[in-house]
Amino acid sequence: MNAMMTSIRRSAIGLGLFAVITGGTIALTQGITKDRIKEQAERAEARALFDIIPESQHDNDLLKDVVTLPASARQPAAGPVKVWVARRNNHPIGIIMPAVAPDGYSGEIRLLVGIDMEGEVLGVRVTSHRETPGLGDRIETRKSDWVYDFNGRSLNNPRPNLWNVKKNGGVFDQFTGATITPRAVVKAVQKSLIYFRQHRQEIRERLNEPPTPNSKNQRPEAIAGELKPAEHS
Ligand SMILES: Cc1cc2nc3c(=O)[nH]c(=O)nc-3n(C[C@H](O)[C@H](O)[C@H](O)COP(=O)(O)O)c2cc1C
Repeated sequence: MNAMMTSIRRSAIGLGLFAVITGGTIALTQGITKDRIKEQAERAEARALFDIIPESQHDNDLLKDVVTLPASARQPAAGPVKVWVARRNNHPIGIIMPAVAPDGYSGEIRLLVGIDMEGEVLGVRVTSHRETPGLGDRIETRKSDWVYDFNGRSLNNPRPNLWNVKKNGGVFDQFTGATITPRAVVKAVQKSLIYFRQHRQEIRERLNEPPTPNSKNQRPEAIAGELKPAEHS
């Protein structure tokens, strides 16, 4: 009887130890994996930032020069917007702001949109998406040049109602068999430019830039109405 109890006790201790070691190993692996994923995401983000505004064009620490801008009137739930600022000789040359296209084929498409102080696009990069490989993933620079078509664009280039894919009367290419993804990205970039225009004065103040001439007289509501994005057709 004693021998049996001893054997049961040993087995129980063995099983307990096994559970503790296995649980610990899983927790440790999960922790390391999570850290690695975060690190990879941060590295991808940093690559995208320097892709949009190359190091040769600014002399500040872009990764650390972060400013918080007011919440968007269109997406108040999203809260304040954190943007990266590129400066040269202490003057801002542009900002890079995160944007989300909520209406991709497979959900959210996350972007970084670089905008210079005149409201012109410096570059756009997709940082995460779940669009279909071979169809919607041509928004990635690894897959196609499509996203470079935003370079140099602004709210009036093209006119607001042409900020759409060609299939819907706009100027941007769609992909063969995939219109939803590029349309979602076009709309998100246009909204970022609208945000920039609407908050231009505040943005300049946060970046410690003097106000632009005449800008004090601009009414945000008037600008908002004027820049109403084109509807999907
Ligand atoms: C399995 C499957 C995956 C698809 N993936 C995408 C995609 O990632 N992006 C996209 O724009 N369209 C995708 N499409 C095509 C869309 O359903 C749609 O037909 C196309 O975007 C044209 O949309 P439109 O009629 O609104 O212009 C996919 C279709 C199928 C059947």
